Amino acid sequence: MADTANKSAPTPPRKPKYRKTKARWHPAMQAIPVPGIRRMVNLASTMKDVIHLSIGQPDLPTPKHIIDAYVDALHAGQTGYTMDAGLPELLVALRDYYSKRYDRKLTRDNILVTSGATEAMYLALSATSAPGRQFIVTDPSFLLYAPLIRMNGGEVKFIPTRIENNHQLDPDEVIKAMGPRTFAIVLNSPNNPTGAVYPRSTIESIVEECAYRGIQVFSDEVYDHLILDDEEYASVLRCSVDLDNIMCISSFSKTFSMAGLRVGWVISSQATIKSLRRYHMFTTSVANTPSQFAGVAALTGDQQCVRDMNNIYRERRDRIVELIDQTPHMTGYKPGGAFFAFPDLPLHVDGSDLALRMLKETGVCVVPGDAFGESTTNALRFSFSASVETIEEAFDRIIPWMAKQNF
Ligand SMILES: Cc1ncc(COP(=O)(O)O)c(C=O)c1O
Repeated sequence: MADTANKSAPTPPRKPKYRKTKARWHPAMQAIPVPGIRRMVNLASTMKDVIHLSIGQPDLPTPKHIIDAYVDALHAGQTGYTMDAGLPELLVALRDYYSKRYDRKLTRDNILVTSGATEAMYLALSATSAPGRQFIVTDPSFLLYAPLIRMNGGEVKFIPTRIENNHQLDPDEVIKAMGPRTFAIVLNSPNNPTGAVYPRSTIESIVEECAYRGIQVFSDEVYDHLILDDEEYASVLRCSVDLDNIMCISSFSKTFSMAGLRVGWVISSQATIKSLRRYHMFTTSVANTPSQFAGVAALTGDQQCVRDMNNIYRERRDRIVELIDQTPHMTGYKPGGAFFAFPDLPLHVDGSDLALRMLKETGVCVVPGDAFGESTTNALRFSFSASVETIEEAFDRIIPWMAKQNF
């Protein structure tokens, strides 16, 4: 009986052997990593009384005259597209600002306005990365660069920076790493996550060697105003003879606390900007219009707000450096710029595990070093985009907790 019933039953459809969800994406998507801090941020969102020293954007308010310019633009009906290279008034303001700052002659055609430095970096790297081309990137580095290079088939060659050297970049090491396949180098000073500011001698040596060898230089200068010690900022625009192999990338996000307004730019040779402009039309087409008016106000208005904000960041930097020094098992140094400190833990300690436990047991959220590269898995990134009181409260919790750790 049972035998007969089996024979007449319909055969169940065979399940396909491949996984549909994976098959949907271009293989290049595999170059996009799972964000190192996702676990931390997810956990923090379920907890009460968390102190965040993990934030990568300014906590200080946007200066009023910039907000006013944004709102005025809206009221004046500036809600359409701008020219694809950028709002003409902003191109002029950027041209004048940079020409004066670095004493070099620029024209509007040297500039492309983008949706933040992120789009500028996306355009620069994805328009140039290709199989057979090698890009030199520091390790640790801001998490955007390596995936963008790899998505387009380029190869990343990491140059580690080390705490013994205050995470400075050794130009000789960089030059030694250059070979026949080296296509470009990505620089980022002041650096995220280390806060290191490279001196003029470093930038000059690297830029000069790159010009000699025809290697491209992509310089991420979003923290160019957040220089916390008394030193001249060494932009590639100050250190290069011509712009043929240079792309200088920056934005309003950090200097003017305008991260959410999303305006950045690339400065390069006219030929490069012409090509990038075409690509930009096929990606985001134009940056946010009222934000570009806000940007004009930022550049042409009183710069005292920038000095005031820097003084606040400097005070915080000095305090966090003292507190890190007082923390058992942590080795610090003095970051010269941006708003990050990147102390080391003992070599064998997994920063990711420690940061997770620290969050669970003290309620302080920081970013583990492995979010930024492979050579600093024993480091933690502390953001001092938080008030001195918040920083002190965080270390009131961290110091006794670290003292109890047996590494
Ligand atoms: C080094 C670095 N480059 C670029 C960006 C992105 O800047 P934007 O807001 O202009 O896209 C950030 C933001 O954290 C950064 O730290």
